[in-house]
Amino acid sequence: MKPELGTCYYPEHWSQDMWQRDAERMIEVGISWVRIGEFAWSRIEPQEGKLEWEWLDKAVQTLGEVGLKIVMGTPSATPPIWMVKKYPDMLAVGKDGHVKQFGSRRHYCFSHFEYRREAVRMATLMGERYGHNTHVAAWQIDNEYGCHNTTLSYSPHAQMGFQDWLAQKYQSPQALNRAWGNVFWSMEVSSFDEIGLPNLTVCEPNPIHELEFFRYTSDQVVAFNLAQVKALRTLTDRPLIHNYMGRILDFDHYKVGDDLDIASWDSYPLGFLEDRSEKDEAFKHTYSTKGDPDFQAFHHDLYRSVGKGRWWVMEQQPGPVNWAPYNPAPAEGMVKLWTLEAIAHGAEVVSYFRWRQAHFAQEQMHSGLLRVDDKAAPALHEAEEVHKILTDLDTNEQQQSDVAIIFDYESAWAWHIQRQGKDFDYFNLIYDFYCGLRKLGQSIDILPPNTENFGDRKLVLIPALFAWNNEIKTAMKNFNGTLLIGPRSGSKTKDFAIPSKLPPEIDYMDITVERVETLRPSSTVGLKNYNGTLMRWFEHITTLNEVVIETTAGAPALIKKGKTYYLAGWPDEMAMQNVLKLLLEGENLSIQKLKGGLRLRESKHHKFWIDYDTCQVKIEPKEKP
Ligand code: GAL
Repeated sequence: MKPELGTCYYPEHWSQDMWQRDAERMIEVGISWVRIGEFAWSRIEPQEGKLEWEWLDKAVQTLGEVGLKIVMGTPSATPPIWMVKKYPDMLAVGKDGHVKQFGSRRHYCFSHFEYRREAVRMATLMGERYGHNTHVAAWQIDNEYGCHNTTLSYSPHAQMGFQDWLAQKYQSPQALNRAWGNVFWSMEVSSFDEIGLPNLTVCEPNPIHELEFFRYTSDQVVAFNLAQVKALRTLTDRPLIHNYMGRILDFDHYKVGDDLDIASWDSYPLGFLEDRSEKDEAFKHTYSTKGDPDFQAFHHDLYRSVGKGRWWVMEQQPGPVNWAPYNPAPAEGMVKLWTLEAIAHGAEVVSYFRWRQAHFAQEQMHSGLLRVDDKAAPALHEAEEVHKILTDLDTNEQQQSDVAIIFDYESAWAWHIQRQGKDFDYFNLIYDFYCGLRKLGQSIDILPPNTENFGDRKLVLIPALFAWNNEIKTAMKNFNGTLLIGPRSGSKTKDFAIPSKLPPEIDYMDITVERVETLRPSSTVGLKNYNGTLMRWFEHITTLNEVVIETTAGAPALIKKGKTYYLAGWPDEMAMQNVLKLLLEGENLSIQKLKGGLRLRESKHHKFWIDYDTCQVKIEPKEKP
């Protein structure tokens, strides 16, 4: 499939006499996809049951007739005011107990069944009208589940739904009490309706209580999405997509993705660097106009996995945004680079958010491809350049990477609930391994935790997987390559308890984690004969297996049995490079030590060098297989 460009357009924001020219200009730039509709409920149905399709029909026709392919969004992220008046209890409730009010977006609670029914009703109406429209070539369901911290809702509906979900899972309150260890602080219940939500408690709730609430809520997101999927499937044969948002972890994206045809995500490299990265000030300064060289790639690889190979960037940052603490303008050429980088990782479509900057409302400070006065913003020219480059690139077939990392949403919830040390953040740990591999020139696959087979990969990393599951145990047993496990992997049961035989419970290794400690930023654990240290987290291990790296105090740091390694702590950058090099060399994988912001991505027939700095690269063409 030849990669294509798109843009996000809001016909309802502009007078109808602008649509034709906008559509033609999109084509002139080289754009072939246009996403519309995802926030337009108040215009489609201004009052309950009063449907106004004419404007949307005309928009579809105008855009479609110039040759644009339309992604139609279902508008369930923006229920209009009449809906909220009809169901005042559909509003989500924050952890602090405050009801989220109407006046922006994503104000609904995933557990509110009447609202779910309304969203399905709207998806059905749209499907009936546009499901077979020749111009509508794909659908987006809702918009960015979880954005603005909207996954978990502590509403009365969530409480009832949670109690019901627990009753189905545990069958009896006694079984739940046992599994949760509720005897601990006299937290035992004698019926499911005595179980509250894990917020507003005096100190921390039982960790399994919180984890189960994450699991329950994630299931509601999956069900909310699936309800619209089911409605649309009967009305259209076009692919169904959702646009996920960067570093949103509080529902299981793989499970939502299982019901869809294509995964997409919204890539705002500069916004993310300022808003979602814990990198230090010097790093942020260096990359403030370019973005973190690994952050986009990580999500590209993640969503390639969520979409089982099919994925897009639904929204690409085109210039300064409005929502981060600082909103610099991208350095010249970066919009082009971000687009090509996504394509290097296998994106089928990269779509710019948004076509024209709005001069009104919340996002008036957010740039578009066009300025408010209709003149081209710098990104428009960069999009045109990308289009020219794409005419010479036929397809960019992906291949399985030799190296993979397991990324698990439940582990993110578990270690959010029980960090044990302030700095223990699951995303950051996985990301450190990912960046370490990229700095050694690797292309990486990200795999879900229930992967049954690692295939003929050479190296698989399983850091901090909180509990084992049968599928991954099978994959580990049958794997011929090198495995790196730990720290903290297998350290809990599914019920969030310490396994009675002590972690990590890898039956073919002789390892016992006898004690764990978390470390202040100023105290780290040195390694004997290796540069670098372990930081943040350290496990005191006894083992009969080979100790490959010892701490300066003589304790096991990296342990090996056959081709399985176990790591006792969180490596700093230097230790990370040393450990990863050792593993990659053991598998004879080629290593390229990359400097600064230079990265490499290999697909089946191409090598892409992506330079977030200005490094000098001598390019050797990839040999055709
Ligand atoms: C995304 C969202 C868009 C727009 C954009 C601004 O999170 O999906 O609707 O708000 O951010 O950067």
